[in-house]
Amino acid sequence: MLGILARTMVKAGMVKPSCLVKPVSVTRIAGRYLAHQEGLPKLPVPPLQQTCERYLAALTPIVDPEELNHTRKLLEEFQKPGGVGERLQKGLEQRGKKMENWLSDWWLQTAYLDYRMPVVVHSSPGVVLPRMEFSDRQGQMRYAAKLIAGVLDFKSMIDNETLPVEYLGGKPLCMNQYYQVLSSCRIPGTKRDTVVNYTLDKRPPTHITVVHNFQFFVLDVYNSDGTPLTVDQIYIQLEKIWNSSLQTNKEPIGILTSNHRNSWGKAYDNLIKDKTNQESVRAIQKSIFTVCLDAPMPHASDDMYRTRAGVQMLHGGGSRWNSGNRWFDKTLQFIIGEDGTCGLIYEHAPAEGPPIVSLIDHVVEYMKKSEMVRTPMVPLRMPQKLHFNITPEIKMDIEEAKQNMNIMVHDLDMKVSVFSHFGKDFPKSQKMSPDAFIQMALQLAYYRIHKRCCPTYESASLRMFRLGRTDTIRSMSIDSDKFVKAMDDPAKHNIEKVALLDKAVKAHRAYADMAIRGQAIDRHLLGLKLQAIEDLAALPEIFMDTSYAVALHFNLSTSQVPAKTNCVMCFGPVVSDGYGVRGPVEQRGFFRLSGHSGPGPRRRSSC
Ligand code: COA
Repeated sequence: MLGILARTMVKAGMVKPSCLVKPVSVTRIAGRYLAHQEGLPKLPVPPLQQTCERYLAALTPIVDPEELNHTRKLLEEFQKPGGVGERLQKGLEQRGKKMENWLSDWWLQTAYLDYRMPVVVHSSPGVVLPRMEFSDRQGQMRYAAKLIAGVLDFKSMIDNETLPVEYLGGKPLCMNQYYQVLSSCRIPGTKRDTVVNYTLDKRPPTHITVVHNFQFFVLDVYNSDGTPLTVDQIYIQLEKIWNSSLQTNKEPIGILTSNHRNSWGKAYDNLIKDKTNQESVRAIQKSIFTVCLDAPMPHASDDMYRTRAGVQMLHGGGSRWNSGNRWFDKTLQFIIGEDGTCGLIYEHAPAEGPPIVSLIDHVVEYMKKSEMVRTPMVPLRMPQKLHFNITPEIKMDIEEAKQNMNIMVHDLDMKVSVFSHFGKDFPKSQKMSPDAFIQMALQLAYYRIHKRCCPTYESASLRMFRLGRTDTIRSMSIDSDKFVKAMDDPAKHNIEKVALLDKAVKAHRAYADMAIRGQAIDRHLLGLKLQAIEDLAALPEIFMDTSYAVALHFNLSTSQVPAKTNCVMCFGPVVSDGYGVRGPVEQRGFFRLSGHSGPGPRRRSSC
């Protein structure tokens, strides 16, 4: 579709060198993080009338005129002076004054911890790294050792507060998410989950967990003097782990973490009744991150390789393959296959993609430089194997999780495509935002397949604000609607189509700008709704209205994270009849799209 959009335009090249994320100082800068954070503005609460007007505009191309009229009336009632809207708005503004960020706790809770669907496919994104050239166990170990050393190198920038501050649109960004991705884990509950971070513990973790053939190990990655193990030392420790986990008939205990959150919460309570199990689970939760040494997956031809690797990262391929070789609650899990397949999966609650991609960019560059240097051999302790006592009840929970995982795997269609005809420099040369250009291509693709447009979600970063997460860019607009309909209209001339594309792209860019400045509608509406719930007041009618349900049924869920590394990000769709499309745009400029569709009527997904 990108190609079709470009046909009437000129091609252009692209190149930007990649480089290691470098610390701003070689020594620790205590207090730098807090000072930076305190300098960031607070997330504003947008004006009520503005949100109501913009909400109506967003609904216009999605709902029929009668429905729209009904919603207009509800909104008029909602906004009346002294009415419900005004009261809730005041409540939100009060919350904004009291809290560091009026939205972030609510968002964490609503979008992640209260969300009961499995984290696998439904929430956790996968990332495929470039294929490596190894095809044996030594290669796998060597790569894993370097990768671990690379992550520890990145960690030292976090620990020393020397990580360079990021900018978007010339504004410094909140760096909090960097402090949440290591040493953290999601904990299941029967009704809601929690997320814990051990970085600020009196004794922060000094170990990672490694899983091979479904068996978990604790690997201490620091010497007693606080220095990290060398690549060479890590390699030796990994070999020990490998040799102690050769049996392939072990219960895939980790697959429990892939289940529906209520079921997993119940199974978890049962699992940790046993002291050994509890200690093993705690060791995984507390570890800095997890490394999954995967068994080979079914062979894939070269053109299907990325798709197969995407599947491996996103869900592990099912209970027959590597889905049990995970602890899906762990925030960061690096996955390394014996055949050179590498990547990771991250649990989404603590962070969005950009910090993860920045970590990957650093690790990949670090690995290019680091060599296996022989270090004097100080004998290192055998990594500790984590034991689990499997009762018949736990065994039943594992079997149930296996079945559910396999259904989920079956329900998901996945395709990774690399679009290499041109990259972001081309739309730039046409004075168009590359992000908006891709979004319009997706709108057109959806329209051509389904003969209609659909509510579309694109994540916008709110990190210009303290503890900011995301808001929604609604990519489907009155202008995108006109553009896609014109594209296949034989009565329209190319020049007219290009003008409509230009207008739609500008409208999208304007929405994106408004969103990153905290003036979009979705989180504000959610805030008003949650404020009503917190006030124990009746839910305003605008939230029980059909239009609201339609507006939140995102058949297209999309996201764009720029990466220096040639990586592919994948995530699942958010509705059963939807697509999840993730497009990291390489700094060099190629568009990489991945998409998935999921349970129910099969979902589509592309990365
Ligand atoms: N003419 C020429 N160049 C243009 C242009 C125009 N009209 N509009 C934009 N550009 C340039 C930009 O200056 C930028 O240049 P650079 O490559 O030198 O940096 C480049 O094109 C890319 O801009 P654009 O495609 O518009 O997107 P963006 O980088 O501003 O990103 C968002 C837009 C919405 C993706 C970004 O603001 C954002 O919020 N990212 C976070 C996403 C996120 O958190 N996702 C969560 C995933 S879990």
